[in-house]
Amino acid sequence: MKVDVILGLQWGDEGKGKIVDLLSNKYDVIARFQGGPNAGHTIIVKGQKFVLHQIPSGITREGVYNVIGNAVILDPVILLSEIKKLEAANISVRDRLMISKKANLILPTHKLLDAWQEKSKGKVGTTLKGIGPTYQDKTGRFGVRIGDIFQADFDTKYQQAKMKHLSILRAMGCEDAIDDTAFLTALEEVKTLHLADAEYYLNDQLTSGKKILAEGAQGSLLDIDFGTYPFVTSSNTVAAAACTGLGISPKKLGKIFGIFKAYCTRVGDGPFPTELLDEVGENLRQKGNEFGSTTGRPRRTGWLDIKALNYACMLSGVDELFMMKMDVMNDLPEVKICTDYHDNQTDESVSFSELTFNSDIKQAYMSMPGWSEEISSIKNYDQLPTSSKNYIEMIENLTATPISLVSVGPERDETIFRS
Ligand code: GDP
Ligand code: IMO
Ligand code: MG
Repeated sequence: MKVDVILGLQWGDEGKGKIVDLLSNKYDVIARFQGGPNAGHTIIVKGQKFVLHQIPSGITREGVYNVIGNAVILDPVILLSEIKKLEAANISVRDRLMISKKANLILPTHKLLDAWQEKSKGKVGTTLKGIGPTYQDKTGRFGVRIGDIFQADFDTKYQQAKMKHLSILRAMGCEDAIDDTAFLTALEEVKTLHLADAEYYLNDQLTSGKKILAEGAQGSLLDIDFGTYPFVTSSNTVAAAACTGLGISPKKLGKIFGIFKAYCTRVGDGPFPTELLDEVGENLRQKGNEFGSTTGRPRRTGWLDIKALNYACMLSGVDELFMMKMDVMNDLPEVKICTDYHDNQTDESVSFSELTFNSDIKQAYMSMPGWSEEISSIKNYDQLPTSSKNYIEMIENLTATPISLVSVGPERDETIFRS
């Protein structure tokens, strides 16, 4: 058996939560492989909405097991509040959730560091969940892992990290008091959860013929190496990260499913070549309810960017594309697709990757007729308006990748399968 991967191909919020939940009935295990509570994955089941930050999006399907992998970073307060919300909705969690002992903990001081770095250094527009500082400590070999909570020296490790952070914060001019009561209380309860060496479990599952779906967080254009650095998150978000984030050999990867919106959004600062700062962009924001699932911030909106999409497909070797939020684009007299960028001085084509070094570019667009019909209730591809099908098929041609699923609303059944 192989591990299929679902990942975002843009700047996050593509609709990963909806799709992982939708497809989870075809899998035995859903495993999150990177990121932390900066993620906000929305699932809507029969009108009931859940926004998951730490727990994999298979949790609302009875009988599906869920794993938080080693490269995920954990805020125990957020984790427990999420478990309790799900339990209040009669969803059993504790018997269907395994957490890798190797997952690094987000400490209260990591969050303060995130906030102060945002204030004092160049602003990235982070989610303020402590993501950058926690991954920094992990790679600096100074992190505190969740498996450490059972060890006799846990308190010493925690105090050392806290002291180090407080001295950095003081040097930054931060005099904020640290209240870690909620954190320490949550850690006591975390001890009752199923913490394990998840890589053994996952590999055993594969050997015994079980199907695993790896769930990515954020999006490829926020990848620490390949995204619009430094306006990125602090983990690798491409498909290869599923291997290191779960302890699975690259030989065991199966299908790579890439999710993208029919247009583009970005929350936080950084390059966004196709951004629409006009009425069209505002309409997409309102109609698509483009406000952050984690922070509530308005998302920036823009036309679909094929250069960026092709870059993301290349990085992960995407087999199939899932196109989301097609319903948001109706009522537009024309729809545009960005097909290239050119240097303003030399007129030469500029790669997506080059954007972090050269922002003096102009975009080349192709324009297509829009469609005005409401499409959310359509179940069959053939019933879609002709111009919307032309749009979909044009994207397939430009990416040379099949679009096997088109999403036309947030509910599970507002989905058109093409294969
Ligand atoms: P994720 O982070 O990739 O899981 O995406 P988010 O949950 O942050 O944001 C996606 C938003 O779009 C959520 O509010 C979903 O309920 C909603 N959504 C998902 N698919 C569709 C769709 O096809 N149409 C519409 N209108 N909304 C959708
Ligand atoms: P999901 O999984 C959209 C963005 C932040 C900021 C940058 C760095 O829901 O798609 P961080 O807190 O990670 O240090 O912030 O990354 N960002 C996201 N944008 N969706 C997400 O997750 C994001 N997670 C982080 O807005 O620009
Ligand atoms: Mg989100």
